[in-house]
Amino acid sequence: MKVVVTGAGGQLGREVSAVFSVGEVELVPLTSADLDITDARTVMARLQAEQPALVINAAAYTAVDACEDDPAPAWGVNAAGAWHLALACRELGTTLVHMSTDYVFDGTLSRPYTEFDATAPASVYGRTKDAGEQLVRDTLDRHYIVRTSWLHGRHGGNFLSTMLRLGRERDQVSVVNDQRGCPTFADDLAQSIAELVGTGAYGTYHRTGSGSCTWFEFARAAFDRADIAVQVLPITTEQFGAPAPRPANSVLENTKANLLGLDSLRPWEEGLDRFLAQLEDQRG
Ligand SMILES: NC(=O)c1ccc[n+]([C@@H]2O[C@H](COP(=O)([O-])OP(=O)(O)OC[C@H]3O[C@@H](n4cnc5c(N)ncnc54)[C@H](OP(=O)(O)O)[C@@H]3O)[C@@H](O)[C@H]2O)c1
Repeated sequence: MKVVVTGAGGQLGREVSAVFSVGEVELVPLTSADLDITDARTVMARLQAEQPALVINAAAYTAVDACEDDPAPAWGVNAAGAWHLALACRELGTTLVHMSTDYVFDGTLSRPYTEFDATAPASVYGRTKDAGEQLVRDTLDRHYIVRTSWLHGRHGGNFLSTMLRLGRERDQVSVVNDQRGCPTFADDLAQSIAELVGTGAYGTYHRTGSGSCTWFEFARAAFDRADIAVQVLPITTEQFGAPAPRPANSVLENTKANLLGLDSLRPWEEGLDRFLAQLEDQRG
């Protein structure tokens, strides 16, 4: 089976490529330099040439704050790019896995979000991802839309890598304590995507690490485990003052995966342990 991964140089793209490079799979990992998904003709031509059975779209414009002032790149990649892939997959009878985000919700619910809750993105980034989801749904039956949250993998610039650097550089860091979400270890997510495509049950899924915490609690747990003696101060979203609004409640219930009988992803604390162990291994 031939599998194309787009955005293969990104945090998740690299882990997905690792998971799908085993067994009978012929993997075609395409970085942004290999295939720009904003170019409809190139997308169609490349997928026609490859004739894959499965495309996994890990490509995205993920600079959440930058989108607020300059939305065009995010619309190009997250909405139009997803559509181009869906159109090409429809032409070829190919299945598409399209990655999405907790930011399609505004975070005002007082319980975890299920796949059955209506989306209501509050940021430009969230709106582009929501539109990407809709375009995939409207275009292609054979799709899996996989929403995840608070992703951290060894190959990415992410919250944890930033915190670990700041914790070593500073005496004190301030971290937002009024946003709650589900940290998700990129290796686990990649594995869960492989399991999901084995089901044949197309549709929209939440796949996140188990349990939830605030960013403050996540940072504290990381510093404790990494023996970094830094003072961590809890602050509000308003005090932090990021340009893009973030959901206060980003907790995603993995309802449909549970109904299918798929294993839950490991608890976020264990994902954090695995992530820190990978960093140790990399340091060698
Ligand atoms: N990171 C998170 O916390 C998080 C949370 C929820 C959901 N997600 C979703 O998870 C997915 C993967 O995120 P990630 O953290 O792995 O993101 P990432 O590390 O930013 O990777 C995205 C990749 O997409 C590539 N890309 C950008 N524009 C492209 C284009 N026009 N054509 C082809 N490739 C392009 C980037 O390449 P260049 O670097 O060369 O531009 C990069 O390699 C995304 O759908 C994201 O929305 C992420």
